[in-house]
Amino acid sequence: MRISLLCGITFLVLAAVISCSPSRRTDIPSRGGFQIIPKPQHLVQREGRFTITKQTAMEIEGDYHSVMPSAGFLAETIQNASGIAVTFSNVQGRRAKRVIHLALDDSLVELGIEGYTLTVQPDRIDLKASQPAGLFYAVQTLIQLMPPAVYQPASASNKIKIRIPCVEIKDRPRFGWRGLMLDVSRHFFPPEFIYRFIDFLAMHKLNTFHWHLVDDQGWRIEIKKYPKLTEVGAWRVDREANHWNAREPQKPGEKATCGGFYTQDEIRDIVSYATNRYITIIPEIEMPGHTTAALAAYPEYSCSGGPFSVLPGGVWPITDIFCAGKEETFIFLEDILTEVMDLFPSRFIHIGGDEATKTEWEKCPLCRERIQKEGLKDVEELQSYFIRRIERFLNSHERRLIGWDEILEGGLAPQATVMSWRGTQGGIDAARLGHDVVMSPTSHCYFDYYQGDPDVEPLAIGGYLPLSRVYEFDPVPGELSAEESSFILGGQANLWTEYVSTPEHAEYMLFPRTAALAEAVWTLPDLKDWTDFAGRLEGQLARYKAAGINYAEKCLSPFD
Ligand code: ACM
Ligand code: ZN
Repeated sequence: MRISLLCGITFLVLAAVISCSPSRRTDIPSRGGFQIIPKPQHLVQREGRFTITKQTAMEIEGDYHSVMPSAGFLAETIQNASGIAVTFSNVQGRRAKRVIHLALDDSLVELGIEGYTLTVQPDRIDLKASQPAGLFYAVQTLIQLMPPAVYQPASASNKIKIRIPCVEIKDRPRFGWRGLMLDVSRHFFPPEFIYRFIDFLAMHKLNTFHWHLVDDQGWRIEIKKYPKLTEVGAWRVDREANHWNAREPQKPGEKATCGGFYTQDEIRDIVSYATNRYITIIPEIEMPGHTTAALAAYPEYSCSGGPFSVLPGGVWPITDIFCAGKEETFIFLEDILTEVMDLFPSRFIHIGGDEATKTEWEKCPLCRERIQKEGLKDVEELQSYFIRRIERFLNSHERRLIGWDEILEGGLAPQATVMSWRGTQGGIDAARLGHDVVMSPTSHCYFDYYQGDPDVEPLAIGGYLPLSRVYEFDPVPGELSAEESSFILGGQANLWTEYVSTPEHAEYMLFPRTAALAEAVWTLPDLKDWTDFAGRLEGQLARYKAAGINYAEKCLSPFD
């Protein structure tokens, strides 16, 4: 379902050349219900329907470049599904018989930058928001009011008749950070899947794609100044036939053939595609641990000097680590981050920080010297020194540092945002210190965990996270005061891919748990109801089916 946005002129050309398709079928939302996920704040059903025909026109009101990403997305969806190329006009133009009207409207500022209103009447549809992102979410809701078959791939020959039930909707999200993480280090996923992944986020009104680009098992981002990061670091020996935790390291002379990486040109295109869908990509560059792939390429930035080889599977504990005593390490990392910031316009840069075992630092004369010279107590404070230094660098480029909750150990860097994964305590502590927090606890957000009976499910890392538990996720822990809660930016789920090697398997782990996540981070707690969600899920699963998404079918009764 990769959808490219077309400009208005292209549409006019397409309108002239595309005729209606031969086969048509009527398809209305099942049980006449409004199976919208995530559930909107306010919805009133009205009488009647709007039918899209060849006479339907789209009217744009407001800055063309602000409205067009949403208008183009909607027009392309309609065209792919029905074969109808809607014509465009501005509000001053000739009034069409049936219009879909998209407008930026300053009077809706109280709905925030992502809120919107959507009104469907028999002869017109109005989508309004004060900001472009809100219009995009109005479009996503409108598409969910259409038959699920509109989600079919653009190539599908089965053209459908689009009827939309009349309704009034006013909506806005609960949180500004609605995230999903994909680990492309443990297994590499090609750019085509990354585009599809971004489509998935858009469909669920998620706005943050946390891209875990590097780890011990592969470095996946081209860095021009350090070509060996991908020449060496992106490749490992093929041990895919063995269990993740029973993989022999690379032998001398053995060729590394398993992996891949994204070129900077590919990344720029992906970032642009995401931006057109109001999705921010947060790149993650791990430090000081989870760095074996980088050290395989440049062992001089370790304490021991190596050699290292890219790990083909799991190793625990993770003792490979950047040397915190060498100035050269910081120059290397700042050079990398400079290229990363050039590619990713995100306010936040994720620096990892998790699971670093510091035994190398304890042994290393240069690290010990650093501890002494900086008046640090121990290796935990040395990690804090490391992260603070990187934060100063990011801040000097108007970026903000975010890291996993281990960055609290040894003292939190002054402006740092904490991503709380080992439960919620790290997030609670950080919020009480006045730091921003993204909640992503394993208990509710780890999509690499089993979602059903481990005896019948595909091999997973462990754990148990059924759909119903994801649905219970509340990013704001009850023990925080209202003021402390204001530091919770939102929530995020993570797909680590040690045991996930194909796009189909990734989709199986993501869906429909991503639907439950979407509602947990968008919908107000008072409006959430599991039974109601399970009913609306019927429509969502039909959409997945139309889009060819390989979702987990037994999600509602995982032990049948
Ligand atoms: C993590 O799961 N190591 C952040
Ligand atoms: Zn060292």
